[in-house]
Amino acid sequence: MQNPDRTTVREGAFGNATGLVCRACGAQQELGPHYACLECFGPLEVAYDFGTVTREQIEAGPKSIWRYQPLLPVPTDIAAFPNTDPGFTRLVKADNLARELGLKTLWVKDDSGNPTHSFKDRVVAVALSAARELGMTVLACPSTGNLANAVAAAAARAGIKSVVFIPENLERPKILTTAVYGGTLVAVRGNYDDVNKLASEIAGEEEGWAFVNVNVRPYYAEGSKTLAYETAEQLGWRLPEQVVIPVASGSQLTKVDKGFTELGRLGLVEPTPYKIFGAQATGCSPVAQAFREGHDVVRPVKPDTIAKSLAIGNPADGPYVLDTCRRTGGAVEDVSDDEVRDGIQLLARTEGIFAETAGGVTIATLKKLLASGQLDPDAETVVFNTGDGLKTLDAIADRVGPAATIDPTYTAFTAADLV
Ligand SMILES: Cc1ncc(COP(=O)(O)O)c(C=O)c1O
Ligand SMILES: [Zn+2]
Repeated sequence: MQNPDRTTVREGAFGNATGLVCRACGAQQELGPHYACLECFGPLEVAYDFGTVTREQIEAGPKSIWRYQPLLPVPTDIAAFPNTDPGFTRLVKADNLARELGLKTLWVKDDSGNPTHSFKDRVVAVALSAARELGMTVLACPSTGNLANAVAAAAARAGIKSVVFIPENLERPKILTTAVYGGTLVAVRGNYDDVNKLASEIAGEEEGWAFVNVNVRPYYAEGSKTLAYETAEQLGWRLPEQVVIPVASGSQLTKVDKGFTELGRLGLVEPTPYKIFGAQATGCSPVAQAFREGHDVVRPVKPDTIAKSLAIGNPADGPYVLDTCRRTGGAVEDVSDDEVRDGIQLLARTEGIFAETAGGVTIATLKKLLASGQLDPDAETVVFNTGDGLKTLDAIADRVGPAATIDPTYTAFTAADLV
């Protein structure tokens, strides 16, 4: 890293951030490599004093998440450090899918366009900045796949060491698309929750290791706010009325809410009401179950689903997802693996967007929420496609393929009666 010997944090290292605050009890801590409250062990999040931030200031910035630098815990010279420059992905008006589902206005925020093809590049870029500013020398993570890609690529680009831990049964493309970046990839005999436990243990032992989603999690999580900022900016500085978001640990969903709220408070958008909906696969749906049963706590489950990127049985932000969805008037729903496959095909067939299983979960949940009347078909709706279908080809491998295999002659083509 640039400043491995640093013992004190430089002025402005975290931009407009002023400290860390406990999400459970509100106790405050200094900015630093902290992630748990000293009073109650609750999770910490970043607090700010934004001052004035204008649309013009943002619009003059780079076409990446760094245009929102004043709203993130990163320094003003962030763009000078090598990173993958994620963000500013397309917001697609999904008229065909809207028509098919009976929705008036639907948008797909397509985050498969990020450098390693998932929204995880956003969170990793912010975590990398924190790690560098704190003088940490190794970028690490436990991952369900997409985070592994993003950490390995960001570390390669930054010229630092990466150590990535994954469950051994991860999809092969996600293993290869991590290993290719040349860091250390460790396959662990166990599921993600086992991998996560191991990572926490190593984080406690190894000096200078930044586990992006463990010991620098407060900074990492802030990266997801950029999904909210971009969506609002691309809608012409407005908030949508309904958003459907996939849930694994639940971090992304809660930070999209934080992002929308901040935009309203800063006067960058009209603070109009919005509802946030969470999407899970039935084979790993601890938050959806808790939502249905009216519980405030989430009971851990053992995941068994094709949506491996969302297969976190003990989600760290589960209770905060419940709170966000209930407070905004949304819901958390789950869908079967077959519905996930249907969802992938539906989005591909109607909009030409090939989502990974997490996107299949989100589209299938959108459909289910509409059918059950929980989503308003007349309200402007945004769904997040957070990952790329090329990483989870097995999900649809038995369902799609050539219409026929023919000899290379016109006669053979017409005889096959294909069109
Ligand atoms: C493609 C994709 N979408 C969504 C998520 C959910 O993220 P979170 O853990 O913030 O809920 C993940 C997590 O790994 C993911 O890989
Ligand atoms: Zn606390």
